[in-house]
Amino acid sequence: MQDQIKNINTLEELQALYTATFGKNGTMTARLKEMKNLDNDARAALNRENVILRELFKARQTEIENAVLMAGLQQQKLDVSLNAMPANRGTLHPMTQSLIEISEILESFGYAPYTGPDIEDDWHNFTALNTPDYHPARDMQDTFFLENGNVMRTQTSAIQIRTMEKTGASVKMFGIGATYRKEMDATHAPMFGQIEGLYVNKNITMSDLIGDIRAFLKRFFEIDDVELRIRPSYFPFTDPSIEIDLKWKNGRWLEIMGAGMVHPNVLRNCGINPDEYQGFAFGFGWDRLAMLKYDLPDLRDFRGNDVRWLKSAGF
Ligand code: DAH
Repeated sequence: MQDQIKNINTLEELQALYTATFGKNGTMTARLKEMKNLDNDARAALNRENVILRELFKARQTEIENAVLMAGLQQQKLDVSLNAMPANRGTLHPMTQSLIEISEILESFGYAPYTGPDIEDDWHNFTALNTPDYHPARDMQDTFFLENGNVMRTQTSAIQIRTMEKTGASVKMFGIGATYRKEMDATHAPMFGQIEGLYVNKNITMSDLIGDIRAFLKRFFEIDDVELRIRPSYFPFTDPSIEIDLKWKNGRWLEIMGAGMVHPNVLRNCGINPDEYQGFAFGFGWDRLAMLKYDLPDLRDFRGNDVRWLKSAGF
């Protein structure tokens, strides 16, 4: 019997043998019933056999259960040599990517980076830029006003003023930042980015401006023949003022920036003598440059920060 128990390998077989031994009609049950007919020694021997058998069953049951558990674990074994799920790698947003490229190009031309606050006072956003209170050009931009009279910067031109106030004449700078206006459609968002450039020194001319713009567009868009169209325009802070169009790959003219010679009043407002110094300034749409470069269609998606859209656009 003891060997029989040890050779059983399944719980079902063990259960069957147990029932056949200790069940209602089991062999041991029958023998125990007849115990009263035995002498003392035989009784004691039967009792011992009874106890030992029960323990053997229990021990074998534990052994079989452990074996079943081990077999299961063996099958579920973790295979650490399998490739993990690919991690979702982050990339630079097109705005950031273009920021880096634009900065690198302008710095290589000798323009130093400057910044200014998104919340501006009236002086830096308008008045110092030759746009006093009564000036009709204030209506050119739909401004968000704050209760204390400050504004959400409508143009990065404010950074020119902050810079010239610090540096005085002989300055070559650029600033990149967010600007805000009350407008919203497929090509306008209430928050958008601008790039401002300024070069003030002695004997600066319009052809210096056009030379730098041409070189910039050549590098940024990686095009060899930069074809430009210069149109007269109006900005209160430049005189003369121009707008520059770029001939795009499909032959269409794209309005790409405003620029001009810094108005003498602007220089004066920053403590610079306009009889001694002149300069040029220019302003690009940052979002627009990035959308053109990476061939992206809708301005609103662009700032939406939906990772699925960024991925579908190749980022
Ligand atoms: N500040 C102008 C705008 O928001 C852009 C601009 C035009 C900037 C001419 C300039 C400039 O520096 O010279 O539309």
